[in-house]
Amino acid sequence: MTIPADLEKRFAAREGQLLNDLFDFLRIPSVSARSEHNADTQRAAAWVHERLARIGFTVETCQTPGHPVVLGEWRKAPAGAPTILVYGHYDVQPPEPLELWTSPAFEPTIRDGKLFARGSVDDKGQLFAHVAALEVFLEARGTLPVNIILLAEGEEEVGSENLAPFIEKNKKRLACDGVVISDSSMFAPGIPSILSSLRGLAYFEINVRGPASDLHSGSYGGAVVNPAMALARILATMHDETGKVAIDGFYDAVRPFPPAVIAGMRQLPFDEEQFRHEVGAPALGYEPQYTVLEKLWTRPTCEVNGLLSGYTGEGAKTVLPGVSMAKVSCRLVPDQDPLKIEALMKKHVAKVTPKGVTVTVKHLHGGKPWRADLEGPLFEAAKKALAAAFGREPVVTGEGGSIPVVGDFERILGVPVLLMGFGLPGENAHAPDEWISVENFSKGMRAIAALFEQLAAK
Ligand code: BES
Ligand code: ZN
Repeated sequence: MTIPADLEKRFAAREGQLLNDLFDFLRIPSVSARSEHNADTQRAAAWVHERLARIGFTVETCQTPGHPVVLGEWRKAPAGAPTILVYGHYDVQPPEPLELWTSPAFEPTIRDGKLFARGSVDDKGQLFAHVAALEVFLEARGTLPVNIILLAEGEEEVGSENLAPFIEKNKKRLACDGVVISDSSMFAPGIPSILSSLRGLAYFEINVRGPASDLHSGSYGGAVVNPAMALARILATMHDETGKVAIDGFYDAVRPFPPAVIAGMRQLPFDEEQFRHEVGAPALGYEPQYTVLEKLWTRPTCEVNGLLSGYTGEGAKTVLPGVSMAKVSCRLVPDQDPLKIEALMKKHVAKVTPKGVTVTVKHLHGGKPWRADLEGPLFEAAKKALAAAFGREPVVTGEGGSIPVVGDFERILGVPVLLMGFGLPGENAHAPDEWISVENFSKGMRAIAALFEQLAAK
């Protein structure tokens, strides 16, 4: 299969303009974590709303306790055609540290075939690839072969807390035959990919309190328990000496991946030494019986994301800090449950906390892990569509990151979720100099259009 000629012609004609339009979308600093950007986040929602309305979608911007959900609907496909729900997020991560960007985060720039901007790959560029594919399809044919519900949210980067309740509440309206998401990456340049798993997440803040205030470390040190040392001790007990998580019961719910899935992972062309070189670490670590891809995609973790205590400025200050704090997150695999992990974490911390300090563990947000068997018409159609756009069959990959709503869609709507992303390794999501490959954006749009075409044919 190739991309149908009428669509290809239209894509070729519109490509430059569509890229320009994406630039406009990327210029809006829709940082969901920062309230000073609330107006920008609203503006990004309005941008998506307007874009869908313009091509004949019925659109509603739905208020939530947080940032709005934009819901576009096009239901004029021939009788019997399936209904597909497309999901993406218009919010982005904060751009800091600004000084590490080669060109400013919200001034999109193309260098060497890469479009640099915050949100270029995660996820505005990929969300817009869907909108653009729908536009081109409608321009070329005046109609779509499937009914479309497009749901764009503005809180993915802060945990999607309001989305499951929204889906629950609008269950009837969101009824569909499958969900399609592009918010992930391809295995390597030129190798289109379908995701079969995501890790889940349980994110904690641990606060340790000792004396009522900071103290002179000479006058008090040695008699008053030091909260920074206490925290270091607590954190150190979370791993054993091989790096396995040493929290009682942590692995109890882990269900091994099917041997065929592991065999598939082992067949992917992956150079562990090159991976080490790319991340710039002197050596890789942990669980030697697993390959790097198995570690990233099939094993749970417990990691420190941030640490704060005492004096960290220039030179020396002899102080015994009154408090210390750590951000700790666990990536989870099927069937670990974030709420159960929260209970285990709290029990563990209580058990290992030294006398002389008090500790609180707060669960900030979480999401369940996800795994799919990739069977059925949605995945068959995706394989053909990706092959048509990229000129080769897709591979099946896993993912170490999390998209909490994926499991919610599956559970609440009872339909399969297809994850076909167009990012690439090294794309700097959440980091300075985030980029999306211009080639992947343009092939991605075509793959999406081909997917709709394939689904209608079923
Ligand atoms: N697009 C990512 C998810 C992702 C990460 C896909 C890595 C493929 C590779 C998403 O926007 C994200 O960053 N998710 C967060 C979830 C969290 C905020 C609940 C993550 O994984 O940290
Ligand atoms: Zn993200």
